[in-house]
Amino acid sequence: MSNDDALILTETDGHVGIIRLNRPKVLNALNPELMSMLAAQMEAYDKDSNIYVILLSGSEKAWAAGADIGDMAEQSAISMYERDQFATWERIKRVKKPVVAAVSGWCLGGGCELMMHCDVIIASETAQFGQPEINIGVMPGAGGTQRLTRALGKAMAMDVILSGRFLTAAEAVHHGLVSRVVPKEHFYTEALKVSQVIASKGPIALRLAKEGVLKAFETPLSEGLEYERKLFYTLFATEDQKEGMRAFMEKRKPEFKGR
Ligand code: HXC
Repeated sequence: MSNDDALILTETDGHVGIIRLNRPKVLNALNPELMSMLAAQMEAYDKDSNIYVILLSGSEKAWAAGADIGDMAEQSAISMYERDQFATWERIKRVKKPVVAAVSGWCLGGGCELMMHCDVIIASETAQFGQPEINIGVMPGAGGTQRLTRALGKAMAMDVILSGRFLTAAEAVHHGLVSRVVPKEHFYTEALKVSQVIASKGPIALRLAKEGVLKAFETPLSEGLEYERKLFYTLFATEDQKEGMRAFMEKRKPEFKGR
């Protein structure tokens, strides 16, 4: 991961496809070029049969301080509508493989919204989270009012979105916005370890389990349960199910193949 000019840096580690946001001078502010490269790389990993898990990281100082304010400042409602930047975010939303986020430092605005597109979130104890769009005359636009409210509940989400205040990592984990908080010097290595643990599971089961959890946000309970059952039955058509259950019975480690 060495190209200083690249907006994102990539590498793989076993079955983990790694992406690092790389605009250090502007705290990884998300401009359309970066978002478009990010979506394309996530789609590439999603299609790559050797990759089971995607790890998305920022730097120790900033995951991302939001959408690029300089890029938006002089836009009009029509130009915002015509550039249709949320089509890129939809592509990220559609990624089927588990996405682990390694979050440290600033995680604000569109940055927080990007984090909420991820599945397992490992945060440094120094991370700060917020939707401060209200301070610059707007409001969240990439899902903040919806996903933050589902994560935190109405009272906390209103507090964060209307006052523009930041949440500490301790508050974020307490309210279920992130999965785990770790010391700042270990945030990336811990996230990689978690990614490797997830990547050791059956890749088809991983994808369907993710689909099941995300369905919980879209459906009433009875429909979600019905959906889950169908995903569960589907896994009995895979070799990985036979391998996983036989390995348990034979007291050995399973070797999943994604079939
Ligand atoms: C463009 C940004 C930026 C951003 C920081 N920078 N955030 N540039 N867009 N979102 C730039 C600064 O201009 C500065 O550039 C450099 O990064 C370092 O930032 P400083 O402000 O000097 O750092 P610091 O004093 O440590 O303050 C950190 C900060 C602050 C609290 C994170 O930068 C800040 O408030 N940033 C904006 C946060 C925000 O409002 N996010 C929401 C954006 S709107 P120079 O050239 O001066 O060194 C949004 C809408 C999403 O996200 C809608 C969906 C897409």
